[in-house]
Amino acid sequence: MNKTIKLTITAVAACFAALAFAADGAKSIRGIDVAAPDPVADMKSYVGKRPGTQAPVVRTFSTQPPVIPHAVENFDEINLEGNQCLDCHGAANYEKKKAPKIGDSHFVDREGKKHEEAAAGRHNCVACHVPQVDAPPLVENAFKGDEPAKKAAAKKN
Ligand code: HEC
Ligand code: HEC
Repeated sequence: MNKTIKLTITAVAACFAALAFAADGAKSIRGIDVAAPDPVADMKSYVGKRPGTQAPVVRTFSTQPPVIPHAVENFDEINLEGNQCLDCHGAANYEKKKAPKIGDSHFVDREGKKHEEAAAGRHNCVACHVPQVDAPPLVENAFKGDEPAKKAAAKKN
């Protein structure tokens, strides 16, 4: 059998399987019918008080970008002219502002060159670091990050 025929058969089989699944009234993991459009979630405002008053949120794995524990609403948009995140977290100001310094990795650009401040590729902080909302999990979730486990293991030894 050539590749195209094989692919066609697979695609047709997948369609039938999907139809049978839907006809069965199968529920999605969110508890609504699979064919029903996803309801738009409520807009939630970010939680967290002003920087300097919040405890860091435990990381779930070592290379996770830590989430932003503090409020972000009153900051200006990150753009070419300015980045208020760096006004507190950058190498020049973090001590004065009593803020955690940006990660060591942030000073190195993709060519491996080291910079005095965050490399341009890190400028849009919120592409990786996210503020928090108070939202109940959509589905029950027993995931436990490895960081608390590692800490507990380290204590035992
Ligand atoms: C006014 C100073 C200030 C500004 C502006 C600020 N931060 Fe912070 N940030 C802090 C301080 C201080 C902490 C330590 C937690 C606390 O005390 O609230 C922190 C904590 C964090 C952490 C957690 C670090 C960890 O190890 O868990 C992240 C991530 C972070 N900020 C990202 C940002 C981003 C992204 C922005 C811009 C949208 C920003 N911050 C703007 C002061 C600031
Ligand atoms: C491409 C994704 C990415 C971008 C963009 C980014 N970060 Fe990070 N950040 C990470 C990751 C991953 C870590 C944890 C590992 C590390 O330090 O590299 C981290 C760690 C941090 C930490 C904690 C450092 C520590 O030593 O515990 C702070 C504070 C931080 N980032 C702030 C910022 C700020 C401010 C910006 C914007 C100027 C920014 N980051 C941009 C991914 C990113």
